[in-house]
Amino acid sequence: MSDQLPHKAQWSSRLAFILAASGSAIGLGNIWKFPYLLGEHGGGAFVLVYLIFVLFVGLPIMMAETVIGRLGKQNPVNSMRSAAKKANASQNWQLVGWLGLAAGFLILSYYSVIAGWSMAYLFKMAGGFLANTNALTSQQTFEELRKSADVQIVWHTAFMISTMLIVSRELSTGIERVTGLMMPALFIMLATLDIYAFSSDGFSQGMQFLFEPDFSKLTGESLLIALGQAFFSLGLGMGAIMAYGAYLPDRISITRSTIAVAGADTLVALMAGIAIFPIVFANHLEPTMGPGLIFETLPIAFSKMPGGTLFGSIFFLLVFFAAITSAVALIEPTIAWLTERMDVSRAKASVWAGSACWLMGIGTVFSFSSEEPTRWSGRNFYELIDFVTSDLMLPIGGILIATFVGWILKNELIEEELELGNRTIIWHGLIRYVAPLSVAAILLSALSLI
Ligand code: TRP
Repeated sequence: MSDQLPHKAQWSSRLAFILAASGSAIGLGNIWKFPYLLGEHGGGAFVLVYLIFVLFVGLPIMMAETVIGRLGKQNPVNSMRSAAKKANASQNWQLVGWLGLAAGFLILSYYSVIAGWSMAYLFKMAGGFLANTNALTSQQTFEELRKSADVQIVWHTAFMISTMLIVSRELSTGIERVTGLMMPALFIMLATLDIYAFSSDGFSQGMQFLFEPDFSKLTGESLLIALGQAFFSLGLGMGAIMAYGAYLPDRISITRSTIAVAGADTLVALMAGIAIFPIVFANHLEPTMGPGLIFETLPIAFSKMPGGTLFGSIFFLLVFFAAITSAVALIEPTIAWLTERMDVSRAKASVWAGSACWLMGIGTVFSFSSEEPTRWSGRNFYELIDFVTSDLMLPIGGILIATFVGWILKNELIEEELELGNRTIIWHGLIRYVAPLSVAAILLSALSLI
């Protein structure tokens, strides 16, 4: 059985890995989700705890996941199993891999719907339909899309097919090529939007909202959501980075690469926040408006700036690229598992996994389009899947990964991989105590939210 065979494919350079891993990390989570979550859950205080989680929980877990991937050199399930074997630990550790496969799959089902929204906006923008947008018409435009299940399904389908086409190809021709171009371009676009925000009326109010923490706004729930968002945005807790780490040549430093990835991811999220909140305040919009936030705010900015139609079109095109490089990472664990264990081709694996995911996404479409969607303890289908994945499965996966690498894997093995020198002690403190215990504490204190 192909069980023990390592991957043959490898990233062509350190930069290729950083770009691909950033491609996985940077996506709708930064541009769409981070702004709307921080708007809903306490502004500056949310941002601050988010940053703390990224640094002290996210980064160490990201290193841990990458290490497991490079040691195992296979899909997450097999990498976990072979790492457990090396440590003479229980084979049950491969459950982490399974949990991850399921989480990635579930996340992609709604991710594709939201990415579909950005495709819809790309066409509205390019067609000039958003050229004269004000606060009122931009709300109407979004509402129209939200209420139309048909239109959302069309774009959701288009996005899922695009994802399937990319993952069905081999590593270098698919993932590497797309990310290499997209990442720098996205950065330039966001910088342009930030410059615009800087010159707009709402700038100081926006900055205050983002960077002046008011801790009275912070609840147990916002802590859990900030933590879940750190996992989501960095793409952790489900083996995506494990799958990418498996393609990482031994000579490349995991520590330096993961710091670069986490830094880039955080920078892009903050840049998106800086672009969006001044528009919110200048136009008397509500920061708490939820998933429609970027779609109701950014078109206003584009319609006011010179060359806005062109800029806006490029921007939504880049959001599409950012989303697709993340989508590929969400599904890669499943694809790797299907090809390595079930011996199907990449093309077939993409079609199977993509179609099943597409079907689940329809549930998300209806949770937005219907005025009275079915609810489970107050959550509609989208909110339920998001809660179960970002706020439960990813953090639980994170605790397990931290515990496994911190306590079970042989120290020498990890030290060899990470080459931390005299900083090993900090790493140990974080991966053994800080990361697993703080995540566990937040999960426990939030049990009532289930
Ligand atoms: N990080 C991506 C984003 O911010 C989404 C994503 C990619 C992801 N891979 C993941 C989320 C793995 C959770 C787990 O859009």
